[in-house]
Amino acid sequence: MITTNLAPPEMLAAIPFDPPTGTGKSYEELGGLVDKVLLHAVRTGHPKYFNQLWSESDPMAVLGEWLSTTLNCTMYTYEVAGMFLFIEKAVLKRMREKVGWADGGGDGLLCPGGSVCNLQALSFARHNKFPDTKETGLFGLPRMVIFTSAEAHYSIKKGAFTCGFGTDSVIAVECDAVGRMDPAKLEAAVEAQVALGHVPLMVQATAGTTVRGAYDPLNPIADICEKHGMWLHIDGAWGAPVLLSEKYRGLMAGAERADSITWDGHKMLGTPQQCAVLLLKSSDGLPAQCNGVKASYLFQPDKPFAELDTGDNHIQCGRRNDVLKFWMAWQALGDVGYAKRVDTLLDLARYMADQIEKRAADGFVLTVQPACSNVCFFHIPEFLRSDPIAVEMLKTGNPDILKTDAAAGFVEKCKKVPPQVKMKMMEEGSMMCGFQPDHGLPNHWRFIISNPRTTEADLDEALNIIARLGDTCAPAE
Ligand SMILES: Cc1ncc(COP(=O)(O)O)c(C=O)c1O
Repeated sequence: MITTNLAPPEMLAAIPFDPPTGTGKSYEELGGLVDKVLLHAVRTGHPKYFNQLWSESDPMAVLGEWLSTTLNCTMYTYEVAGMFLFIEKAVLKRMREKVGWADGGGDGLLCPGGSVCNLQALSFARHNKFPDTKETGLFGLPRMVIFTSAEAHYSIKKGAFTCGFGTDSVIAVECDAVGRMDPAKLEAAVEAQVALGHVPLMVQATAGTTVRGAYDPLNPIADICEKHGMWLHIDGAWGAPVLLSEKYRGLMAGAERADSITWDGHKMLGTPQQCAVLLLKSSDGLPAQCNGVKASYLFQPDKPFAELDTGDNHIQCGRRNDVLKFWMAWQALGDVGYAKRVDTLLDLARYMADQIEKRAADGFVLTVQPACSNVCFFHIPEFLRSDPIAVEMLKTGNPDILKTDAAAGFVEKCKKVPPQVKMKMMEEGSMMCGFQPDHGLPNHWRFIISNPRTTEADLDEALNIIARLGDTCAPAE
């Protein structure tokens, strides 16, 4: 079972949530609480957990996580972080080598999550263009605009309002049929903004979009950035690990032309949350120039080894040791093991897509060929399969008919199926996967394959579960 399938009222009744107002619990009682926590938590290590962009943690990384929380050495100064700063340097350098930056040169920092990496990249881009904003803010400056694909992660909007640009400054560029940013549309959007007197600050390309797993074409985007003097940031929170794989690194051809890259260790690579990295091509000290305030009580310049302190590179003060777990896993797997992990996940996605295409008779239709390890598809349940729209969609294997006016009635029925199936799935606790409307299509399934212990047989069984539960659906009220 992947969950104990408790609905919120049952969950509230199952666990004594309030801490004791008097004396604390005995070890025996605490053991009972631990049992309940383990029983009712979602088992993200289950091979049929496809719900999000992360799953089971690598065992060596878990050991690293225990070590770092037990040792509790914050990362801001050499005097308390010591060797961990060298571990951080070694990991960041290896990641930059994988990007293809000469001799692994450049810079980088660990941030609390991919969203914060993207926010930090935006702030670096602003500092790079207008360093005075650190003291004077945005007053008196022209409007700065940021370009990203219409399928980019929502964190860019959060970054834009947090940095004071506002969400209206985020220009969503149209994507092609498989979900990649269209460079011609980007160029036109940049020129339109320049004509308005706005400053084109940054393009955030995506390597592995959240829903479809698409990789934006980096070389043509880099050409446009060079032409207009824009910072090129790649959000590879999900998909950058393909840089570890000889077989799949071509998906990110041109990555070495970026100014910065977000790359989460806690998604495809199985490091426990959180472990997110922002890599920088330049080693000109931008992080400390942008974020440093030289607090004299902590970063005393005359203290031993002060030159190794990293605190002023970050917006945080105290900082978790998020690198040890990543390093432990990398030590255990080596580059070879990590490449194999990535290959396994992306190969599995291609296997699943093939099976979906072979099972049109069971009501399956793929929405797009996988680039990363996201698999998006429809399952048309039996009660809808004789509808002429369904017949046509299953015959052609193309769901685009759902975007036509003629399909409006069918779409209304079709979009109600995944929520019904999801409820049945939660009740029986057999599997977890997600659904969403996307790319002009109504609710359909998204499987994320991020656990290398998942097998082809698990994927076959997962499709059988979707088909079985779907076929028990009836028209919803
Ligand atoms: C493409 C992409 N970028 C950024 C993020 C945000 O990452 P995090 O959850 O580590 O903040 C996500 C999360 O799903 C994502 O899919």
